[in-house]
Amino acid sequence: MSDQKTATQGAADTVTLVDNKTGKSYEFPVLDGTEGPRVIDIGKLYAQTGMFTFDPGYTSTGSCESQITYIDGDKGVLLHRGYPIKELADKSDFMEVCYLLLYGDLPNAATKAKFEKAITYHTMLHEQLINFFRGFRRDAHPMAVMCGAVGALSAFYHDSTDIRDERQRMIASHRLIAKMPTIAAMAYKYSIGQPFVYPRNELSYAENFLHMMFAVPAEEYKINPVLAKAMDRIFILHADHEQNASTSTVRLAGSSGANPFACIAAGIASLWGPAHGGANEAVLNMLGEIGTKDRVAEFVARAKDKDDPFRLMGFGHRVYKNYDPRATVMRQTCYEVLEELGVENEPLLDLAMELERIALEDDYFVERKLYPNVDFYSGIILRAMGFPTSMFTVLFAVARTVGWIAQWKEMIEDPSQRIGRPRQLYTGQNQRSYTPLDQRG
Ligand code: SDX
Repeated sequence: MSDQKTATQGAADTVTLVDNKTGKSYEFPVLDGTEGPRVIDIGKLYAQTGMFTFDPGYTSTGSCESQITYIDGDKGVLLHRGYPIKELADKSDFMEVCYLLLYGDLPNAATKAKFEKAITYHTMLHEQLINFFRGFRRDAHPMAVMCGAVGALSAFYHDSTDIRDERQRMIASHRLIAKMPTIAAMAYKYSIGQPFVYPRNELSYAENFLHMMFAVPAEEYKINPVLAKAMDRIFILHADHEQNASTSTVRLAGSSGANPFACIAAGIASLWGPAHGGANEAVLNMLGEIGTKDRVAEFVARAKDKDDPFRLMGFGHRVYKNYDPRATVMRQTCYEVLEELGVENEPLLDLAMELERIALEDDYFVERKLYPNVDFYSGIILRAMGFPTSMFTVLFAVARTVGWIAQWKEMIEDPSQRIGRPRQLYTGQNQRSYTPLDQRG
């Protein structure tokens, strides 16, 4: 077992808080983990001081103890159970990374084969769910379909909704990881009026997804191994990312005891936002709006203008104040895919590279440590592979499901877990009496 330790085994340091209004001082324990900043345990702050902390956006708040993913934003480090993301992207595959995130260590050959088989045999959907798809407009955004279909899974799989039952939690986890590609591909097929393509058990996870997305009954679909490998790597790069907005949403939803299907549907909804997982779609729309290199300077100026809501999509990050290590791998993958597809010059890539060059030389971005993030290059690859822009965040959700599930599992299995219930700084009206309608001005 790796040398993990729980926070409670950390050094017995303390910090002292002095309330200058009352002159009282309070001591709070400081805990340290295996990596990263120490934390001040303020669990008893309100009981001792009658005060709350105040940290909108949680820029300085650790919401939980976790052993799954570690990020060092200043150094651009991302570890999954201690393994650097670049090593996993170069040497592992998505099924192995799923096992690692869920169970804490890389599987041996036998456990990997058993895990892959368990996932493979859950890839089909209950046939009646097809009726569910037929209720949507053909032009519905696939994220809306994904949200609805995943939330509906709890209506079909009653035998895996009891979160207190370890076996049911495992089956629900496997079902969600396995069925997300099937639901995603069905959302796409439905939007273009093509028949649904069933999963095939002899294909790998990434191959199966490409097959369900792009095969048609009229002819055999040939898997391109380079594209399948790129797809698998893109899944790895999006698998988990500590306590981001959608993962925190899943944890908060799960803390009430909601079933895992409902929790993942909540995560999908949160991921959809353009400030989060919706950024990959927004990057492509932004590059389309910029159009040509000679307009890059105009849009960089707009991104810096406080009076202009325009932001450079795919740039900046709450945690990374250095290059997002996933963006580096994504850019390399972009070259590999474009070369495999024989795309000599991709205007969008040229435009993105020019945008990156200009931004990284501009003081505004340098001072604020705004670098390309995971979403900056992913859309260019996905578009080249034939995915419509509207499917980009859906792919992010397919990959991130294992991270959401791993974090949800860790929370459920934490004996100290309680329902999440933040407080607030109230600045509304003091108590006042009701004024009858005929007495109001
Ligand atoms: C993901 O959290 C995760 O881990 C998320 C994620 C994951 O894997 O789960 O990594 C996936 O969501 C990546 C981020 C994708 N989003 C985008 O690319 C959208 C564009 N980025 C911005 O919206 C922004 O950078 C955020 C939302 C990503 C981060 O927002 P923060 O931390 O709240 O940053 P901030 O607003 O405090 O920015 C600090 C300064 C501000 O200027 P000042 O007020 O200090 O003068 O930088 C500016 C911001 O205005 N700024 C930008 C900018 N991002 C921040 N200015 C122009 N363009 C941008 N993209």
